[in-house]
Amino acid sequence: MSGWFEQRSGLAGTVAVITGGAGGLGAAIALDLAANGVHPAVIDIDPAAGGQLSSALDERGHDGIVHHGDARDPEALAALFEVVDERWGRVDTLVNVVGGTFRAPFLETKPKGWDALLRTNFHHVLHACSLAAPRMQAGGRGGSIVNITTIEAHRAAPGFAVYAAAKAAVEQFARTLAVELAPDRIRVNNIAPDYVPTPNLKRLSNGSDPMSDPVGGSVAIPMGRVGRVEDVSGCVVFLASALSEYMTGTTLHPDGGTFASSGWFNWPSEGWANHVPLQHLQS
Ligand SMILES: NC(=O)c1ccc[n+]([C@@H]2O[C@H](COP(=O)([O-])OP(=O)(O)OC[C@H]3O[C@@H](n4cnc5c(N)ncnc54)[C@H](O)[C@@H]3O)[C@@H](O)[C@H]2O)c1
Repeated sequence: MSGWFEQRSGLAGTVAVITGGAGGLGAAIALDLAANGVHPAVIDIDPAAGGQLSSALDERGHDGIVHHGDARDPEALAALFEVVDERWGRVDTLVNVVGGTFRAPFLETKPKGWDALLRTNFHHVLHACSLAAPRMQAGGRGGSIVNITTIEAHRAAPGFAVYAAAKAAVEQFARTLAVELAPDRIRVNNIAPDYVPTPNLKRLSNGSDPMSDPVGGSVAIPMGRVGRVEDVSGCVVFLASALSEYMTGTTLHPDGGTFASSGWFNWPSEGWANHVPLQHLQS
């Protein structure tokens, strides 16, 4: 006998293409979808992460595809979709996970860096959607496209101007695509996390991680802790499922309240303030 969620979600037996699905947030997304009966088809640039995901899927008895490749390469993306066509003949969900950035004031960056950020965070989303949506249309069962964006698409991000702009472009693209594809019951939504210390992100932080510190985290994050990969993967399961079948063109914010608090901090001595308390400036 299947449970309420299994019946209402309609996920079992569906197929999800996941770019960057073998490590970090992507691996949690692939494994949580697979746990709900979804066949994941992953492209990932990291062969070691791909091997680990393949083993994890095998151990749990899940049927999936893990391709080694660069999601920024339209031919590599197209090759994955062709294998999916042959194997399952359907695409129900597309999750665009690939993205990344580097820290630099805008005036210290060059066009080559801007192009790289746009390729990594925006262009492959267009390619992946252009491959997934016609297949969803042909299937006649609707579909769900989910883009992992960021809180930085919704606020200023000093040191990350082009990354933030590229992710905001994804959000705005999703709104229009959602409207264009709504008659086909193909939904397009975004998930905008704040800080989730995935292994690759931790490597960039050079050992300094104030947000994961219990005091630092409780000052900056209303819910008092950094994000976990399952905070994001749970949102993907919901958006892939029929539970969200009337939601399109919108964004979920699994961020512990940081988008809502926008600039307000819960200082240990002063409580909520939208400025640094004077005693911190003087010490
Ligand atoms: N971790 C966070 O705090 C955080 C916060 C907000 C938004 N995001 C967004 O979430 C997404 C995933 O973040 P993450 O921390 O899991 O990153 P990550 O660096 O761990 O990447 C996830 C996976 O994508 C793969 N990947 C990277 N570039 C690829 C490419 N060109 N082709 C194929 N695979 C590629 C990596 O190998 C990895 O397995 C990104 O789009 C990021 O901008 C992350």
